[in-house]
Amino acid sequence: MNIHILEKEFFALYGEGSVNVYFAPGRVNLIGEHIDYNGGEVFPCAISMGTYLLVRERNDNRVNLASLNFSKRGEYDLESISKDSDEWVNYPLGVFKQLQAEGYNFGGADMMFYGDLPNGAGLSSSASVEVVTAYAIADIYQINITKKEIALLSQKAENEFVGVNCGIMDQFAVAMCKAKSAIRLDCNTLEYTYVPAELNGCSIVIANTNKSRELADSKYNERRRECEMALQIISEYVPVEHLCNISVSDFELHKLHIDNKRLRDRAEHVIYENNRVAAACNVLVNNDIMAFGQLMNESHNSLRNLYEVTGRELDIMVEESCKCDGVVGSRMTGAGFGGCTVSLVKRDSIDSFIATVRKNYEYRTGLKPDFYVVEPEDGVKKIIT
Ligand code: GLA
Repeated sequence: MNIHILEKEFFALYGEGSVNVYFAPGRVNLIGEHIDYNGGEVFPCAISMGTYLLVRERNDNRVNLASLNFSKRGEYDLESISKDSDEWVNYPLGVFKQLQAEGYNFGGADMMFYGDLPNGAGLSSSASVEVVTAYAIADIYQINITKKEIALLSQKAENEFVGVNCGIMDQFAVAMCKAKSAIRLDCNTLEYTYVPAELNGCSIVIANTNKSRELADSKYNERRRECEMALQIISEYVPVEHLCNISVSDFELHKLHIDNKRLRDRAEHVIYENNRVAAACNVLVNNDIMAFGQLMNESHNSLRNLYEVTGRELDIMVEESCKCDGVVGSRMTGAGFGGCTVSLVKRDSIDSFIATVRKNYEYRTGLKPDFYVVEPEDGVKKIIT
């Protein structure tokens, strides 16, 4: 992205003068899906697409919000923030409100956002807007706050202000990731390690199904409730706080106590998927990329058959991807119900992979997909111009 073009746009909006530029990436989750709100481990990495934020401090309490992606603009008083219908501005507004709720002091700002992530495609465009907002405000007003606190605060803004009941994975990845690594995060304790993403001659290829994620929020909340119900039943036999605290052997021993098959299937996905994350990190450390790919494939099958969050388009994308030469593994990524898949593809097969999957996916669904070849990148940062 050419920052000078963004600066010009900013000056056109708010006048010439000083400006600070920040960037928060999106994320792709390599494995560990629908695990964060069940207290287990996830394994995402940040990507090069994300949200740029240009900011200038103001000496009053006003915040001006503009975006190059959306027509909605707004001028808000920090003393009286409330939700603004269904607009993108609710992400930064929620962050201001949460910063205030946690006792941080800051004044007004002129802000301009620009994102190059597809919206609503499961690559965490919302988390990147939240995290970049909190990081920029903290930087210009010298608020003493860690990136981990920024992640937690941003999640809270999304849960309580925007009203989406997401887990911690997205905001944590967007704030904390490091280039060339994926982050192995325990969503219960928030302990994490960076695992070098040495992919043995493979690249990460994201495919956007361009299937809109209708009802995604309500179905997401439904899955959360189903997990809570399954936990309530099984924890009478295995006393644990989270589904992911149950070992595979304990689950196999006690699973028939959950007599509703749907709830049992949801729990089975969660417990086995959590185990797959540990296995995936181990094989990656041992450079066994084929085994990593196999675990990705198993993850997708489980999300399709047991957790039922894939849908026709994601399944076709994965099916067509797996047929291609040079593909090591492929699965849906993010919440599902549309959105993106992630595949590991041998570098010299990427062009033929994209051409073949594009053709076959479009033939079968009538939708035009998009592809992005990405590298693991750093989390939120200030861009020095
Ligand atoms: C969405 C949520 C995350 C996580 C994933 C599924 O991206 O925001 O918290 O639950 O879905 O793994």
